[in-house]
Amino acid sequence: MQTLLDTADIDHLRTALTGAGFTASGIADRLGPQASADAGRSDFRAALRITGSGDPLDTLIRLFICGQTEPEAAVAAALAPLPVAAARAAGLVVLADGGLAAGVDLEPYGDWWVLSDLPAQPGRQLPADHVLGVGGASTTLAGATVRTPVGTALDLGTGCGVQALHLSTHARAVTATDLSPRALRFAATTAALNGMSWELLQGDMLAPVADRRFDLVVSNPPFVVGPGLATHVYRDSGRAGDDVCAELAGAAPTLLNEGGTLQFLANWVHVKGEDWEDRVASWFAGTGMDLWAIQREVSDPLDYVRLWLADASEKHDALRAAEWLDWFAAHGVEAIGFGLVTARHSDKADPSVVCEDLRQQVQPPLGDRVTEWFSRRDWLDARNRDQLLSARYRRVDGLQLRQEATMGDDGWIVDRQLLAMPEGLRWVEEIDPLILALVSGSNGDLPLHDQIALLATAHEAPTEALADALLPVLDHLVERGLLLPT
Ligand SMILES: C[S@@+](CC[C@H](N)C(=O)[O-])C[C@H]1O[C@@H](n2cnc3c(N)ncnc32)[C@H](O)[C@@H]1O
Repeated sequence: MQTLLDTADIDHLRTALTGAGFTASGIADRLGPQASADAGRSDFRAALRITGSGDPLDTLIRLFICGQTEPEAAVAAALAPLPVAAARAAGLVVLADGGLAAGVDLEPYGDWWVLSDLPAQPGRQLPADHVLGVGGASTTLAGATVRTPVGTALDLGTGCGVQALHLSTHARAVTATDLSPRALRFAATTAALNGMSWELLQGDMLAPVADRRFDLVVSNPPFVVGPGLATHVYRDSGRAGDDVCAELAGAAPTLLNEGGTLQFLANWVHVKGEDWEDRVASWFAGTGMDLWAIQREVSDPLDYVRLWLADASEKHDALRAAEWLDWFAAHGVEAIGFGLVTARHSDKADPSVVCEDLRQQVQPPLGDRVTEWFSRRDWLDARNRDQLLSARYRRVDGLQLRQEATMGDDGWIVDRQLLAMPEGLRWVEEIDPLILALVSGSNGDLPLHDQIALLATAHEAPTEALADALLPVLDHLVERGLLLPT
């Protein structure tokens, strides 16, 4: 795959960036915490005050972080041994009034550098083939990815190559695809600049990897839902509604190796009269996947359309917004959900399918929480009633009981009791006194059937009936990680 610069010039660029100390730590040391934090919020005043020396690091910071035009001689010195003419030919820098300005976004990201198009600027509408830089969705997916070592991994819709960089840390071979040839040139350059080698393939969705299987597939696809109009390749798939995510889900059985995992960010429509959980689960019907889909946000249609029109700096286009909203109305779309879908090739006769709201901030990284969730679910699914009853359970460390109470004539009357996990998935669960008693007694000493027998005596209830009532609760509490098998 073609890169923006030839191999020798990529080596020259790496030499320049390394020599200048244009790395995450080098920039942080030069700017200090306050100017770094300000720059992260696009306030470059302090950074510009600090970086006036004209040395290569100052020049690179001013050029690529602060978006300044710098004198050609300073830029040439900062990029040496990469000739300025080569940098200009590749579009890395462009002529501007008074010198040279950045033509692309070139920034350290962790221990790497990532190349992408310059971000949106007020009044400058993004071109149709804009290559997105590392953004909130990119880091959400990167943080949510299961980082178990694998043989083969696929990044579908790689863009600047950010997910592929992460995959390279734990996959022996990385394949990255994109519909956009421009995106692939950026991804190829990102890979080469970081000394990595990926298989880069161009094409629509699954077409470039037809008949191929992977251990791990990740995708931050162009998931924006709407009438199916494709104006910007980074966000529009050209498919109507949430079909692009349904397509990805449906491909899981032929895309994954045995035991393989597919993770993607998705939008789904909330249609009048339909549960979103059923909709997302239906994408995977008959695929033989264990599924955990978590909804992290919900937007109403108007906010959603405004958000995505503003994202591409599209001028306020009342007609376009109206058409988009009319499409939502015509299809009964009342809201749009955003979340993470993790599907894993299952060997269970009855794969577990869970779609749920998870709006709270979880203990990072989410990828570890995903791994733990699947292992708890596997533990539960591998056990029959007797085995679940004879196991011992303990409360997760640090579990808190929160009470809401109203003062009555004779003192406080407890209205609600909540169990709260301070770590992990940080669930807060409303519970009744019986479940509180079960959880309170779960210190790993007694098998569950003995705990239930004690509760049955205390509540003068038949033990078997109580076990029937409590086993689904236990399943729920273990699945969520409030109770753990010892
Ligand atoms: C939201 S960006 C994600 C970029 C990057 N992977 C990340 O995590 O930030 C979506 C990417 O999908 C690509 N894309 C759009 N339509 C596609 C299609 N039909 N098939 C494959 N890739 C597509 C876009 O070019 C873009 O690079």
